[in-house]
Amino acid sequence: MASKQMVHMNRGQGETSYARNSILQNAEQNRMRPLIEDAIADLVCSRSMVVADLGCSSGPNALALASIAVDAFRRRRLALRRPPPPAELCVLLNDLPDNDFATVVKSLVEFKRNNGDEPVLLTGVVPGSFYGRLFAAESLHLVCSSNSLHWLSEQAPQDLKMKGIPPYDVDANVRRERRAVVVGAYARQFRKDFIAFLKMRAVELVPGGRMVLSLAGRRSVDVASELTHAWESTAMILSDMVTMGVIDKEKLETFYIPIYGPSEEEIRQIIQEEGSFLIREMQVPELTSVAYSALITPARVASMLRAAFEPIIVQHFGSTESGEEGIMDEFVRTAERRWSLEGSLQDELAQNPRGILHVSLEKKLS
Ligand SMILES: C[S@@+](CC[C@H](N)C(=O)[O-])C[C@H]1O[C@@H](n2cnc3c(N)ncnc32)[C@H](O)[C@@H]1O
Repeated sequence: MASKQMVHMNRGQGETSYARNSILQNAEQNRMRPLIEDAIADLVCSRSMVVADLGCSSGPNALALASIAVDAFRRRRLALRRPPPPAELCVLLNDLPDNDFATVVKSLVEFKRNNGDEPVLLTGVVPGSFYGRLFAAESLHLVCSSNSLHWLSEQAPQDLKMKGIPPYDVDANVRRERRAVVVGAYARQFRKDFIAFLKMRAVELVPGGRMVLSLAGRRSVDVASELTHAWESTAMILSDMVTMGVIDKEKLETFYIPIYGPSEEEIRQIIQEEGSFLIREMQVPELTSVAYSALITPARVASMLRAAFEPIIVQHFGSTESGEEGIMDEFVRTAERRWSLEGSLQDELAQNPRGILHVSLEKKLS
């Protein structure tokens, strides 16, 4: 791959945008509410607070965690009968530079307008990678992040790229033989990245500061299922497209989706080894709860994958004869065909140990 991969979700408000295709991610954000409320309850001791959401993307989800935090802050202060002057809450939203910040800024203006006088809201955007430094030392009280930390810092795990090992082969036997090497390389890259993330935030949070994170993961250490990792569904659809002659096999062999979903045990070990944070809570809610599975339809999941992966797929595979849209329209059709049998998508999800990790951390005092 010649140029650097452009990681961002589909921009704008159109039919294929992330803004219109992130209802499943929003369901996850809502499940973080109790953890954010607990963190805020512990933190509301001073008049002002700084909250950052890392990997905010754009559309309604960009402000979902900030809204939960503002709401919790306001209610907590009311419950504590804090006297005037009004409190101040600073909300900072981060994502990579290619994110649709123009839309985010407009949403922030509206967010401020709808907020009222208490607390006084101060807002800002902070473009850059959350694997590097983003904020001044000891300037943050609460860091939130939803559905983002499974994205790796590199376009491909370094070990695989250096040795030229394809992440996904159309041939199931070859894939099985390589699986341990591929998954191991992804795991090592995630470990390196997540340690860097923790170290940066340890500098930026005040002592006792909190982090509430959700990321794609898996419910067991077992990686036997071919669909254990979030990127494998997308690779599988692309592999079907190779079989149909829509895209080249060689192209698929050099396409790395920079995503890794750790197990609860894996992430716990990394946090303990890095040493800056106490684990206040860790949960892996079922993906197949009744409310959640009602949201999972083939069309919705296919459109969600499109909204998240279109930029890197189009950048790598280029356009088909029917143009840039062509390859992605075919991607959605292929996915829907795969899951066309009623219940087949739900079965696929039930049979693999994927999940979402929810983690609440506290920065140690020294
Ligand atoms: C699936 S979206 C999640 C958006 C939103 N938080 C939500 O829950 O719907 C993942 C976001 O993480 C961002 N991202 C990925 N790697 C990043 C990095 N290294 N630094 C900052 N943002 C990153 C992507 O650009 C994308 O907007």
